[in-house]
Amino acid sequence: MVSKKNLLNIFLSDLAVMNIKLHNLHWNITGSDFIIIHKLTEKLYKKLQEQFDSVAEIMKMQNEKPFATMKDYLENTNIEEIESRDYSSYEVLEELNSDCHTLIDLAQQIRNEANKKDNFLVANLFEEYISVYTKKSWIIETMLQEGNITLDEETDSDD
Ligand SMILES: [Fe+2]
Repeated sequence: MVSKKNLLNIFLSDLAVMNIKLHNLHWNITGSDFIIIHKLTEKLYKKLQEQFDSVAEIMKMQNEKPFATMKDYLENTNIEEIESRDYSSYEVLEELNSDCHTLIDLAQQIRNEANKKDNFLVANLFEEYISVYTKKSWIIETMLQEGNITLDEETDSDD
């Protein structure tokens, strides 16, 4: 029987690759929205780095082995890397929105499986991640729809 992949390790791999991808976008954003996207990506990678550590630690608490090599992350991630080149604010927001949905989908699967096993530690953590990424996606979609890329209080908040 093929062993089932540990979804927490897939999520961990996604966060590891997202960290690099967010830095790529943070460095390579160009145009008049530079400062807004530069700040937005920085807030996101800082938040994501906290999650990266929390997911690995929750795995250790459950006697599971978190992936800890770039090789493992690259072999297991759902996130697609992109080349280092100039990006417009529109391109960055489109990429980020699509990646938010990838993370939400996997977080929902993890939350649902954890609920079935009464694993409230994992279920609660991923319930929180679902709401974090759903909110990010909502903000990004609003910025895209309105073509109004401004750094308001909501975009600038820490959650
Ligand atoms: Fe920076």
